[in-house]
Amino acid sequence: MVTFISHSPAETTGLGERLGKAAQPGWVFALSGDLGAGKTHLVKGIARGLGVFHRIQSPTFALVQEHLDGRLPLYHLDLYRLRDSRDICAAGLERYLDPADGVAVIEWFERWDGPPPLRLCRILLEHQGGDVRRIQYDLPRD
Ligand SMILES: Nc1ncnc2c1ncn2[C@@H]1O[C@H](COP(=O)(O)OP(=O)(O)OP(=O)(O)O)[C@@H](O)[C@H]1O
Ligand SMILES: [Mg+2]
Repeated sequence: MVTFISHSPAETTGLGERLGKAAQPGWVFALSGDLGAGKTHLVKGIARGLGVFHRIQSPTFALVQEHLDGRLPLYHLDLYRLRDSRDICAAGLERYLDPADGVAVIEWFERWDGPPPLRLCRILLEHQGGDVRRIQYDLPRD
């Protein structure tokens, strides 16, 4: 795992932007971290890195928002309101774990307790006091 220490929302967005530039078709960015840890800020950066200029909001009510104006389709999910893999499948969201020619970014990924996505980029965000966040991530192997 790579560890990145962020000191501001802008640094978190900047890391996301670099990840978005590196993203390949089929990648799943799987975000975990407490309320306010910075998941949505990271998603904003990933979107920017993919050239998505739609406004990114937490899709808590819609569950998924699709952005088709970037280098690759971006599917933004927030699983906060779901309990487990059963709920996620019942909501018809399972297909986003294998996004084919697009990229998925999933907030509250820990709700998923089924088999891991094939091209997984796991990202853990932790409060470290004040504006400091520890962000650990692993890029997909291929
Ligand atoms: N280093 C940092 N990185 C990201 N956000 C930070 C940082 N320091 C302070 N913040 C603040 O923390 C909050 C992070 O909000 P954000 O919506 O990105 O979190 P989240 O993990 O998506 O939360 P939720 O689970 O409620 O959706 C914002 O208010 C932001 O300004
Ligand atoms: Mg959020």
